Amino acid sequence: MTLKDLANKFITSLNAIYDEDEAQTIYLIALEHVLKYRRADYLLKKNEVISTEKLNKLEAILTTLQAGKPIQYIIGETIFYGLPFKVNPSVLIPRPETEELVEWIISASNSLLQIPNSQPLTILDIGTGSGCIAIALKKNLPNTKVSAIDIAKDSLVTAKQNAILNEVEVEFLQDDILKSQYAIRNTQYAIIVSNPPYVTENEKSSIHENVIANEPHRALFVSNDNPLIFYDAIADFAFTNLMPNGLLFFEINEYLGKQTVELLNHKGFINIELRKDMQGKDRMICCRK
Ligand SMILES: C[S@@+](CC[C@H](N)C(=O)[O-])C[C@H]1O[C@@H](n2cnc3c(N)ncnc32)[C@H](O)[C@@H]1O
Repeated sequence: MTLKDLANKFITSLNAIYDEDEAQTIYLIALEHVLKYRRADYLLKKNEVISTEKLNKLEAILTTLQAGKPIQYIIGETIFYGLPFKVNPSVLIPRPETEELVEWIISASNSLLQIPNSQPLTILDIGTGSGCIAIALKKNLPNTKVSAIDIAKDSLVTAKQNAILNEVEVEFLQDDILKSQYAIRNTQYAIIVSNPPYVTENEKSSIHENVIANEPHRALFVSNDNPLIFYDAIADFAFTNLMPNGLLFFEINEYLGKQTVELLNHKGFINIELRKDMQGKDRMICCRK
């Protein structure tokens, strides 16, 4: 079987779960994992016959994909902000829109970094999951001290492995941001960022069934009654734990932009800016203490 034949097999076999473009992208990820071929290699070598050993591996991946498992969990890794991350079902698979939030933080922090200050900027990531935000920030802003919390011990194990993989130092702590006893209390942060759970139970039906079946629900869902529960708690925490002029960044539910802005306004934050992601959806907010 050639690389091109196998591409067609992936597309046909996965058509109940993924559209053609998604299946093609997934195939290329599998190919890179097994054959170390990039997209350009595939385009050049489409007619190459795959060895039996590699074909068996790729077909085993296809079978698991057909059972609904995301490719990132099958191969155990993904790329976020150009960096490698280990992923497994204890952590949310990092999303492209979160890369846009990281981009915003990096450009905004440059103005904070220009303030003469002998101390490194302190950054806290709340609900770190795989550690993607904290690690991408530390990698791109080396002159910072980055801490990150998550409620889930198993996520923190993965996040720590990812910090080692990316050769950065990040302090990871287990904590529940909805409880009053924060292990991270008494630090004044320059930047606090969070991509907390924000999908309401009502929205479950519009979410890809693979996501619901495979990704950790504690990372995704909030009740219909109190969809901004994390934003409320994190805004309170940030108001006391941000230094004057410190910045709070959130990834948000596309349908709750206006309500989240109102909440932050009510809490006393200023310069509140709501931004859309590349798909034109309200997706992130920055505000200043
Ligand atoms: C939407 S995921 C974000 C993960 C990662 N930051 C990212 O952007 O891919 C939300 C994270 O919040 C964590 N979390 C849920 N409830 C929490 C709580 N009460 N306190 C701290 N973290 C919590 C989850 O375990 C999960 O890792």
